[in-house]
Amino acid sequence: MKIDILTLFPEMFKGFLEESIIKRAIQSSKVEINLHNIRDFSKDPHKKVDDYGFGGGAGMVLMPEPVYDAIESVRTENSKVILLTPQGVPYQQSHAYELARSSHLILVCGHYEGFDERIRSFVDEEISIGDYVLTGGEIPSMVITDSVVRLLPGVIEEESHIQDSFHNQLLDYPVYTKPVDFRGMKVPDVLLSGHHANIQKWRYEEQLKKTKERRPDLLEKR
Ligand code: ADE
Repeated sequence: MKIDILTLFPEMFKGFLEESIIKRAIQSSKVEINLHNIRDFSKDPHKKVDDYGFGGGAGMVLMPEPVYDAIESVRTENSKVILLTPQGVPYQQSHAYELARSSHLILVCGHYEGFDERIRSFVDEEISIGDYVLTGGEIPSMVITDSVVRLLPGVIEEESHIQDSFHNQLLDYPVYTKPVDFRGMKVPDVLLSGHHANIQKWRYEEQLKKTKERRPDLLEKR
């Protein structure tokens, strides 16, 4: 998979791309991730990419031309162009599975007050990562990238996906490690029993219990 990220702040991605699982996925060529500065596509002598909004109002608005040119510089027949915006479709794990099947994602990060509305006409999808407003689309595009890359074959153990929260619309079961007794809180006996079928059964029951308590809406969707 290839992911092209269009942003005004490529430096924000440094730590994200250079640590842990994402770093390893890049090194082992499971994914190619390229950063592109939208400012490089400005035709203005001062590399301006935003201006005041017509009709007044606070904040600057991202102009359509540099964004359009940045998208066109990387777009191919198989690209899916995604705009990160609080007005987009709320992002969910099922969406991550769907995006993980694409061969090329182009993530467009806005900043400031918003995008010129005409930018919407040349993207395929708009995604929101939740009902709150961030200063830009950079963190949302890291969220999308992280959730998609971990699903690519060979990036993490296949079994981990099956136990993920939201797989089958259930929250994850509890996990424990050493010590067996921590300040009087003991690891459930069943996990120490070595009885695989009982462990599976216990985990499934715990998933149902936790989901019922915390996210009954997920059970309704099942
Ligand atoms: N840009 C600013 N806030 C956002 C959000 N919640 N989701 C996606 N993009 C955003």
